[in-house]
Parts: sequence; C-alpha cells; structure tokens
Amino acid sequence: MSPDAISSRGDRVLRWADALAQHSDHPEHLTCAYMTPAHRAVAAMLETWMREAGFDDVRHDAVGNVIGRYRAAPGNDAARLVATGSHYDTVRNGGRYDGRLGILLPIAIVADLHAQGRRLPFDFEVVGFAEEEGLRFGGSFLGSSAYVGRFDPDALDRTDADGITMRDALREAGFDPARAGADTDADVASRLAHYFEIHIEQGPVLLDRGLAVGVVSAIAGSVRRLLTLQGQAGHAGTTPMGLRHDAACAAAEIILAVERRCGQTEGLVGTVGRLEVPDGSINVIPGCCRLSLDVRAPEDTVRDAALADIDAEITAICQRRGVQRKVEEIMRVPATPCAPAQRALWSAAIAAHGVPVHELPSGAGHDAMMMANVAPVSMLFVRCGNGGVSHNPLEIVTGDDVRLAGRVAEAFLLDLSRVLD
Ligand code: HGY
Ligand code: MN
Ligand code: MN
Repeated sequence: MSPDAISSRGDRVLRWADALAQHSDHPEHLTCAYMTPAHRAVAAMLETWMREAGFDDVRHDAVGNVIGRYRAAPGNDAARLVATGSHYDTVRNGGRYDGRLGILLPIAIVADLHAQGRRLPFDFEVVGFAEEEGLRFGGSFLGSSAYVGRFDPDALDRTDADGITMRDALREAGFDPARAGADTDADVASRLAHYFEIHIEQGPVLLDRGLAVGVVSAIAGSVRRLLTLQGQAGHAGTTPMGLRHDAACAAAEIILAVERRCGQTEGLVGTVGRLEVPDGSINVIPGCCRLSLDVRAPEDTVRDAALADIDAEITAICQRRGVQRKVEEIMRVPATPCAPAQRALWSAAIAAHGVPVHELPSGAGHDAMMMANVAPVSMLFVRCGNGGVSHNPLEIVTGDDVRLAGRVAEAFLLDLSRVLD
C-alpha cells in the first residue's frame, strides 16, 4: 500500500474521531452516555463507515453494539472468528479517543484490505461496544458482556441520576429491552479464537519513553462500590460539634483513609470519583452522604487486601461517628493477563516497524477484560500526548502515531493465524 494511503489512514481516523465528538449530551464538552440521542447518532455513524469500508454485514445488537463482520477468504467456511473493538460511550467531559480509536482504526484497516481485495483466513469482526464506562447506570462492560453472552438482566433495573431505568432508556431509544443480551450471536463465544484491542495508553509511560506504541502485559483488576452513609441531619447553628453525626465528615475521613492505604503499595490505586450530599443545604448538617469507591491493582490479592483494610477503617470511622453505612458492590473484574503468543506477535510487528518494544501493564480497565472470559486477549497501546492525560478533553494522539499503530496492527492481523490455537 502506498505510504500516502497509509498516512491518510491516520488522518482519516482522527477526522472520524472529530466527527463523532460533535455528538454530545452536553453543549460545551464531550459526554456520550449510554442510549442518549448523542450515543445513537454515534452508532449510526459507525454503521455508515463500516458499510462504506466494505464489511460484508453490519448489525446493531439489542444493547446497541455496532458489529461489522468481514468474512474470511473463500474456503474457510468453518472459519474461526477474530474480533477487535472497543467502546464508543465516554466519561463525562471526556476525550475523543478513549475507546473510539479502537473501533475507528480497525474500520480503516478493513477499508484498506477491502480496497485491495484482500481477505483474512478467519472471519473478522470489529465491534463498537455500546457501553463500557458505566457513566449512566454504573457497572461497566455492558456492551462486551452482551457480545459474549454474559449480559446481566438485573442491570436493566439500574437507574440513572434522573431515576430512568436502563430498561426504559433502551425502550426510549427504540430497542426491545426483553431482547437485551438474548440476541447474542451464539457462536461468538465458541468460535472466538482471539480478541485484541487497540487503545490509547491513558498514561505517560510511552510518552516519557518516546515510543508511539507499546504492548500490554496485563490489565489491572478493579472493584467498584457505592457507599451510602446515614448520620443525622440537624441544625447547623444549634448543634454542638461534639453531638453531631455528620455523614459528610465521615465521608471525608473515609476518602483520606482510601488515599493513605492505596498510597502504601506500588501499582495499587484507589479513587473516590463521586461524592454527594443529596438535597444538602448550607445550614443543615449532612444527614446523608453518598460516595463511590474504585480500587485497582495488577494483582487481585493486593487489591483485596487493600479493600479489607479500607473496610475496617470505614467500620471504625462510622462507629466513632454514629453513622450507618450501606455498601453496594457494582463491579468486580479480576486482573487480566494478555496472551503470551499474541504479546510476542505484537512485539515482532512493532520491532518490524523500527520501534523499540516496550511492554507495560494497563491501570485502566478495558473491554478486553470481559472478552477474556471466552478467548485469549491482547492489547496494543498508542501514545497519549499532553502528559498522558485521559478522561479529560485534553486527551490527544497524533496522526503519525495512529498511522504507525495501524501499520503494526495490520502486520499483526496478517500474521495472527500463525499463532491461533
Ligand atoms: O475505568 C476505566 O479504567 C475505564 O476507562 N472504563
Ligand atoms: Mn475510559
Ligand atoms: Mn476505554
């Protein structure tokens, strides 16, 4: 393929990401939550680009995944299936490449393969997973769980900040919630030979090392919980400090306990990303306070030991302050190793393009963690600019790095059948 064509691939993907970013739930920044009108507009654009790229069929499943299949070369009827993809939902005020790069770049690669009349020795699916971030309904990996036949129907009863259930949000967007997860392509889980994901690093490691791409060794496992602290509301002016059961002060102590404990171990991270005093007033002692907890580590034992210590601290803080607490665990995903054979293949493809090979763990979670339930997985990271920032509108990649990642991924794809079981 001509260098011009390949260089345009990098720019084409960036232009596509810019076009998708025009659809947002918020007028001033990029937020694309599950099943909002912006989310539906993005799904329609992905379908259009997949059809234009030459996929043999493009379908939307019952939870909003957009799935393009590029059939194997003739004579591979019982062809194995290889899939790639990522999520097209975003966090609030997020970046335009998180997830979406891993959908758009494979679409561009298939477009070039199709233009050259080339087929692969396996069926190849590119999947735009409808939801991974958990922004609107909590949890995570909704799209990829449905794709592999592991959708949890209880999720349909989860409500968003406006009290709308996922069931009603699906119905409102024209989907039949009764089919959510039930219309899974049954043979995916049985035929899937490998899943790979191309994703921005969302950190500074490749940037600091001057590397455009890197191979992911493993993905940190995470636990997400929602805590509701119930103290006692009271008059801010008449209640002596020693007689209060202030739920927000209990939350403040808990947040610092999380920070302290997770700062003790390399690779362990803990975050309270959501904190609210529901219906709070300036002159009322917070009777209730809600907070989220996200704890991760490359090893599950390290994460779980930290959670046990944090639980003990929460118990002591609540007892001392006369505050009750309710804890809801909304997600628990184990640390996910990437497949050695494909890690080696990525390394060879990177080296073949003159880039020093670097392997690194992923602190961020990815759909690959869900896909690892049914097939070996691997990941390619692409360098993030602006200090590696992500989950932030300053998230950025360059056309050159995307172009190079595309060449590496294409080499990986063309050689992959050699290492499929
Ligand atoms: O939270 C994560 O790591 C991912 O961005 N959902
Ligand atoms: Mn993300
Ligand atoms: Mn992501």
